[in-house]
Amino acid sequence: MTTIAKNGNEILLEENALSELLVNLNGLLADYHIYYQNLRGLHWNIKGKFFFGLHERFEELYTEAAGAIDELAERILTLGGQPLHTLKDYVQHAKLPVAKNVEDAETSIHVVLDNSRYLLTRFREILQLAQDNQDEGTVAMMGEYIAGTEKRIWMFSSVLK
Ligand SMILES: [Fe+2]
Repeated sequence: MTTIAKNGNEILLEENALSELLVNLNGLLADYHIYYQNLRGLHWNIKGKFFFGLHERFEELYTEAAGAIDELAERILTLGGQPLHTLKDYVQHAKLPVAKNVEDAETSIHVVLDNSRYLLTRFREILQLAQDNQDEGTVAMMGEYIAGTEKRIWMFSSVLK
């Protein structure tokens, strides 16, 4: 039986579950910023014959990531938490590796794939945690991110075949 929290939980989710979810969502927010900056780097540094296609594609990806970042931060607020927002916090809390000065097409695509697979794993972990705690809003959000990320992995894997 789920107990309804008393102190400031407006959406009637269990308080202990919320704090664990919030820690995870803030970790994901930090990872997402590293992903975003990795994509900016790929967009700026790409060289070679695939420049035009990939330069534009990476811009699409970071624009999409910026939207997800805002949604995630607002989900954290909706759950009664406070989203991390300083660069220092992001560097401290993120686990996603930084990709620096990547210029060639194949390595760039591997960065997108590795980053996407890492995020996919995190989405699935958070989905499970949210499911275990009746947090259907976060479940739906993770479900959407999982589908989008799986599609991205399919597309970028296809380029390498
Ligand atoms: Fe640009």
